[in-house]
Amino acid sequence: MLALEESRAYLEQLTRGSFLISRSGDKTNIMTIGWGSFGYIWNRFVVMVPVRKTRYSYELLKDEHFFTIAVPKKGEFSRQLEFCGTNSGRDLDKIKELSLILEEGTIPVPHMKEVQFNLECRILYKEEINPDNLQGQINLEYYPKEDYSVMLYAEIINIIK
Ligand SMILES: Cc1cc2nc3c(=O)[nH]c(=O)nc-3n(C[C@H](O)[C@H](O)[C@H](O)COP(=O)(O)O)c2cc1C
Repeated sequence: MLALEESRAYLEQLTRGSFLISRSGDKTNIMTIGWGSFGYIWNRFVVMVPVRKTRYSYELLKDEHFFTIAVPKKGEFSRQLEFCGTNSGRDLDKIKELSLILEEGTIPVPHMKEVQFNLECRILYKEEINPDNLQGQINLEYYPKEDYSVMLYAEIINIIK
């Protein structure tokens, strides 16, 4: 069934890192994501990705409807994952810097070549974490600077292998 096979691979790779590709107008950016979930809501296969509001990626995403998740094969792209997870697109063009090869797909956001697969995603729902509803320990541990994540729920509309 669409997305079930990839959900396992996505979850397996998740903590090792995947790429979140965003685009707004003529600006395209890539950041590393290591948290997320996969599920079935509203009769759709849905991924949820928490993106902190401080990320340049969020700036690009906030008024858009699509993003791509590029999932590398185990053990591949480690240098690029590290780079995209420690540098901001505000300061440099990570795509140029790493000579990443992007291709246009079926959504207005491109996908990455040479990875295991790409999930083309359409945002269905988003919500910023409300600290009042957050278990205290998680708040202290992960948000001491109050840079809360926005939880992006998105339908997987296409998988590119
Ligand atoms: C392994 C790894 C996983 C990460 N996972 C996330 C994540 O799930 N959500 C998030 O907001 N930032 C995450 N980050 C941090 C961003 O990738 C990092 O802040 C990046 O520089 C943001 O880039 P941008 O400003 O170009 O958007 C992760 C970083 C690494 C190294």
